[in-house]
Amino acid sequence: MTLVLGYTLATAWLALCAWSIGYTVWLVVYRLWFHPIAKFPGSFWARTTFWYEFYYEWIKPGKYYARIKEMHEQYGPIIRVTPDEIHISDPLFYHELFVPFNVRRTNAYTRYAQGTGFEDIFAIIHTHEGHKVIRDPVEKLYGKIATHEPLVLGCTKNFRARLDQERDTGKLINLSHACLSLAIDVATTVTFQAPSNYLEEPTFNENLFNIQKSGLMHVPLFAHLPTPLRMIVVPAIQVLASRIPELKEWDEKTRRQTFRTELQEPTMKLQGRASIWKRANFASRIGQLIQQNGIFHVSHTIETIITQLAMDKSQLQKLQDELAQFWAEKPDKVTSWYALRELPYLTACIHEGLRLGAGSMKRSPREYPDDEIHYQGWVIPKGTPFSMTTYYMHMDPTVFPNPDTFNPDRWLGADPNGLMHKYLLPFGKGSRACAGQNIAWMQMYFAISQVYQPGGPAIELFESDESDIRLAHGYVFPQPRLDSPGVRIYVHDP
Ligand SMILES: *[C@@H]1O[C@H](CO)[C@@H](O)[C@H](O)[C@H]1NC(C)=O
Repeated sequence: MTLVLGYTLATAWLALCAWSIGYTVWLVVYRLWFHPIAKFPGSFWARTTFWYEFYYEWIKPGKYYARIKEMHEQYGPIIRVTPDEIHISDPLFYHELFVPFNVRRTNAYTRYAQGTGFEDIFAIIHTHEGHKVIRDPVEKLYGKIATHEPLVLGCTKNFRARLDQERDTGKLINLSHACLSLAIDVATTVTFQAPSNYLEEPTFNENLFNIQKSGLMHVPLFAHLPTPLRMIVVPAIQVLASRIPELKEWDEKTRRQTFRTELQEPTMKLQGRASIWKRANFASRIGQLIQQNGIFHVSHTIETIITQLAMDKSQLQKLQDELAQFWAEKPDKVTSWYALRELPYLTACIHEGLRLGAGSMKRSPREYPDDEIHYQGWVIPKGTPFSMTTYYMHMDPTVFPNPDTFNPDRWLGADPNGLMHKYLLPFGKGSRACAGQNIAWMQMYFAISQVYQPGGPAIELFESDESDIRLAHGYVFPQPRLDSPGVRIYVHDP
């Protein structure tokens, strides 16, 4: 009996091994020779397995953007970066691929949302049409400049007031958390009926942001779990996460919020499309998604500008002089975003901050369901995920000499062939570009002009430098070196 059982088990085991080996061989053969994009160049590992990306995203970590750049140097401007996805490195072609809604139907690539915890919402909005349901009203709402100007200005005034409160208290401030608190206040103020007042929190929500950051770093792991495992692990993590007091509070805060009227109906519409067991809290999760997408780039840009100016007194002086003159000559215009946009040095600082601080290192894959892409003799079939990386453009030394240097002067005067503006894509472009761009611009103009206006606080860095802000890890939201304790500042009387 035992003998028979042992024999059966051994056979089953052998069969399983044979099946796995056979399946792997078949998959490799298929991906190398029969896959619709089999002919595109690329490294052997990138073409045959998704674990290659996993290795660079999770083990290295957050370094696939750098590896992709190397692969382009080796294989040319169009390469296969995963078994399913094509990556193109050709800055001007970006403007042909990332186009508005009415030009071409553009879907997002569902795999890209894996591991983020927002898969359920993404499953609905990854299509051109599903995305449009929420996108149009969001754009319309955020486009109401006159409505939002005083609200955003109010948040940046709170930011300035919080810094003033800390003057000469001897307390260290984590600048990153201060800027994130500002950004989250702005995002909630323009999206919901009531502001969140994150800036009032004494530690600038230190614990919440640290937890969110470690979550961010685990996205590549969850993204690469095989589907059945992911379907168990991700909800389990969500349940566990909901017990962490800071996350629970964040969640409840969003749940208590009511959307601005413009967003109520479209959210209900999307909720109607969600599967039955995902409908609970759907609206608040959209609110969270908007917050998550709306805060990192803009807060890191503001943090970058403040840090750089604290390190370079001559740049700081130029900005303060420009603002002092404006404050003296046009005091009635200092609350107008349109008027502030005319200030050349302020604008140059913001452009430079966006170039260095809001680079998306992770590629942003799209699919055209109806169209092929023709590029240098290659034909990318319909429905194939393709991507580009805007960070390479922000760091292109032919357009931005010494790209690592924060140099507002480069924006003053010369942009002879208009390339600098074509290469600066902090918010992406086309139908899926950042919907809150106006709000972000307004926030940056108001925040920087409020902090550096006459009488503004003096900011002193504490054991922090450029390495604490320079982006180095290409997570969904890019991060500086992981062992950085963050930019810490003291605030003084001027
Ligand atoms: C400051 O904020 C950054 C970004 O969240 C974080 O990585 C860092 O650990 C924080 N530093 C301190 C001292 O809390």
